Amino acid sequence: MATLAFDVYGTLINTYGMVDLLQRYIGEDKAMPFATLWRDKQLEYSFRRSMMNQYEPFYTCTSNALDYCIEAFGVNITRDQHFSLIKRYQTLPAYKDVMPCLSSISERSDIKIYALTNGPLEDVERLFEDVAINQYFKDIISVDEIQKYKPDPMVYQHFLDRTNARATDSWLISGNAFDVIGASSYGMNSIWIKRTDQQQMDPWGGRPTHTIQSMSELEALF
Ligand code: 2OP
Repeated sequence: MATLAFDVYGTLINTYGMVDLLQRYIGEDKAMPFATLWRDKQLEYSFRRSMMNQYEPFYTCTSNALDYCIEAFGVNITRDQHFSLIKRYQTLPAYKDVMPCLSSISERSDIKIYALTNGPLEDVERLFEDVAINQYFKDIISVDEIQKYKPDPMVYQHFLDRTNARATDSWLISGNAFDVIGASSYGMNSIWIKRTDQQQMDPWGGRPTHTIQSMSELEALF
């Protein structure tokens, strides 16, 4: 029996799904670099909050990171636009390869499907309902339950505790290199979804057990 832990943001859900709004608000040229810095800062804030024992839910990291980027890019964002950008984060789209993959592997009796995410349960449940993938998951396990962010080893241990699974039978599936390395270092198997050439694996730490370009390649690995 394989126990799968799907990461959410950047793996199932496209964290660049608000670029169209940014293009309108700050222009075509700045939209993508802004979105990239926003994502990087959001993650950096989660890492730092975890290390500092100053946990706040992921949307606080998202909102603080947005404020940082507005300052860094020196752009004018109105209160309404700010609200719309944060709101969009709650309705981000799923990648196209997600639904067919989940629908197919959920038929397999030798695979258990979970989500393991930095996002609070209610936010991720809402996202999954919006993109109609909720029914494929046995459970959504949020770091909110232990108030530590990935890649703290406590998060991966918490996943194993909650699912009663052994590390050797568990698979972290993520588009985020830091998550893949975190889980591999903890002794879990890992699959890195490298959808774009821009995604890079760090040159240190654990390695993914497998690397795939699309979730359509996932099922064949089991
Ligand atoms: C998630 O936990 C790391 O953002 C990623 O969903």
